[in-house]
Amino acid sequence: MNVSLRAPDRAEAGDRAEFRDAVLAGLARSPRAIAPKFLYDARGSELFDAICELPEYYLTRTETGILTGCAAELARLAGPGCALVEFGSGSSVKTRLLLDAMPDLAAYVPIDISRQHLDATAGRLRRDYPLLRVEPVCADYMALEALPVDVNGAPRLGFFPGSTIGNLEPEEATSFLRRARTLLGDRGALVLGVDLKKDPQRLHDAYNDSAGVTAAFTLNLLRRMNRELGATFDLAGFAHDAWYDPVEGRIEIYFRSLWPQTVTVAGRTFTFAEGERVHTEYSYKYDDAGIAALARSAGFTIDRTWTDPARLFAVVYLEAAL
Ligand SMILES: C[S@@+](CC[C@H](N)C(=O)[O-])C[C@H]1O[C@@H](n2cnc3c(N)ncnc32)[C@H](O)[C@@H]1O
Repeated sequence: MNVSLRAPDRAEAGDRAEFRDAVLAGLARSPRAIAPKFLYDARGSELFDAICELPEYYLTRTETGILTGCAAELARLAGPGCALVEFGSGSSVKTRLLLDAMPDLAAYVPIDISRQHLDATAGRLRRDYPLLRVEPVCADYMALEALPVDVNGAPRLGFFPGSTIGNLEPEEATSFLRRARTLLGDRGALVLGVDLKKDPQRLHDAYNDSAGVTAAFTLNLLRRMNRELGATFDLAGFAHDAWYDPVEGRIEIYFRSLWPQTVTVAGRTFTFAEGERVHTEYSYKYDDAGIAALARSAGFTIDRTWTDPARLFAVVYLEAAL
């Protein structure tokens, strides 16, 4: 029988097939790993928003404070009439600081992998900014060759906040930024939010909150596999595992099997030893030299850097090097 699917259903079927293939490959390899983008189904996106509100998660509060202070200068640097292109836009909460400071934007293009969350966010923005052209793009920003929206030649200002760059391994971060450099063009600039190296205890606490929200975010991936791939993960049999590796300069996040067990995923069987882990996420932390090297390697120059007084977080304005 030929079943024809509506475009949104086709898109969701494509998302699910990609998720299945990535999970089966990730669980078959050694060491086991599943890419962080899969943490963000609709529930994962909600849990990430809850993480941003946690007392231990200084990142969102600090970056918001920095952006509040520098939004007017960012608007001046970017100039009038540009198109704001956000990578991994989530709920676009911090974006509103830029939207308020740049009332004459040609368009706002939020790019995110989390389809339902992106559509809901775009709806709220259209309601709150009726004069703004909002053009959501559901895509993997690591695979985007060009901007799939016509912004009529407007200069492009990229926005990549939230320390999302830290989820990328160094080579991936460079290749992402090179791609962004191409996509934003020679007149383009990029506002990048970067978490800075600091006291390991502070970092550890930020990813091991006392309310268990970060743990719920990691373990939601198991729920997603159960729901979308017919997997048989027992949520009680796995734990969130996160700590800071000072040598690599990164938080490492895993889910860990609490006892020996066998799990079926999309019809395939996987055995877990007690203590066996599946990697889900890194969060790399940077210092000034690391940020400068990253920018240089991708064809950007650093025009301005803003930090908070305690130097927990940095917002960097990068311009395309010609
Ligand atoms: C750490 S959250 C940051 C959200 C928001 N920008 C902020 O600063 O609060 C990462 C966001 O990027 C999205 N994301 C993660 N990997 C992605 C990918 N490869 N392509 C597109 N979006 C991605 C997630 O769905 C999520 O909304």
